[in-house]
Amino acid sequence: MAIKKVGVLGCGLMGSGIAQVSATAGYEVVVLEQEQKFLDKGFAGIDKSLAKFAEKGNLKEPAETVRARLKGATDRAALADCDIIIEAIIENVEEKKKMFSALDGIVRKDAIFSSNTSSISITEVAAATQRPDKFVGLHFFNPVPLMKLVEVVRTIATSEAAFEATFEFGKSLGKTPVRTSDKTGFIVNRLLVPYLLDAIRAYEEGVGSIPDIDNSMKLGCGYPMGPFTLLDFVGLDTTYYISQVMFEEFKERRFASPALLKRMVMAGWYGRKSGKGFYDYADASNPVPTKF
Ligand code: 3HC
Repeated sequence: MAIKKVGVLGCGLMGSGIAQVSATAGYEVVVLEQEQKFLDKGFAGIDKSLAKFAEKGNLKEPAETVRARLKGATDRAALADCDIIIEAIIENVEEKKKMFSALDGIVRKDAIFSSNTSSISITEVAAATQRPDKFVGLHFFNPVPLMKLVEVVRTIATSEAAFEATFEFGKSLGKTPVRTSDKTGFIVNRLLVPYLLDAIRAYEEGVGSIPDIDNSMKLGCGYPMGPFTLLDFVGLDTTYYISQVMFEEFKERRFASPALLKRMVMAGWYGRKSGKGFYDYADASNPVPTKF
């Protein structure tokens, strides 16, 4: 099936990024949100990002042409003729099931349903629809317009045709798709989450300071960000949530949340988005390591 029109659920950080790369690749895009104000916020971020790409000469078309392919909607009926739906709403399995179950009766029967979830079982969400064979995981990375990877996730019920069509769609976005199966965390978080949690444990045990551990991985291993900068970037609430789901699935210590991470989330220190995490972002251009 030829994919021409893309429906994106949610216009937050991930949803707006997915909408942007889809429109940049030439697809018509409809983004669904609960309220217009969330669309306005997400589209403002897209405008800023497109302007940066245009400034560097990295857009094949004028930003306005890309932008004209993007429509916002607060009514689910606007998604009826989409060929693929990509969900990027709150990481809550019941909310995702409710959303897809409702869309199942609205969106054309041959459309592919996909979820950008990082840790929720694709199989479970797919089972809330009448089309589990057309349900695929499509996991992007933050910041979506820059990160080149997309994980394409197959469940035991996904058909070969739906999986391959989604894989090709990922390629058409200019991303490198990888094939993976519906095991919690997929490939990247399976490896990344224990590493991030271990960095916190190393700090708790006095192995090194926050900037020294960050610099070690940046300068010693060539990582673009050290683990604490990345934790603050991904969000401590998000990392904590993923670690809980992974621990629940595998019951292995490497996925267990360190006490400090849990306390920081309880304190409302979520990283960059809340202004404080392992660094304090009061002056965003000069983050200062948090003192514990
Ligand atoms: N759109 C367009 N341009 C952008 C942009 C965006 N959204 N975000 C940043 N840029 C531009 C910046 O303006 C900058 O341009 P300049 O060179 O003209 O100033 C350029 O990109 C580089 O950005 P920065 O100078 O801010 O910093 P870096 O060179 O470090 O690059 C980065 C930023 C690509 C984010 C890099 O630090 C990186 O790769 N970090 C690791 C990110 C990562 O690991 N992401 C995955 C997280 S895990 C995840 O998402 C999965 C989930 O399930 C947890």
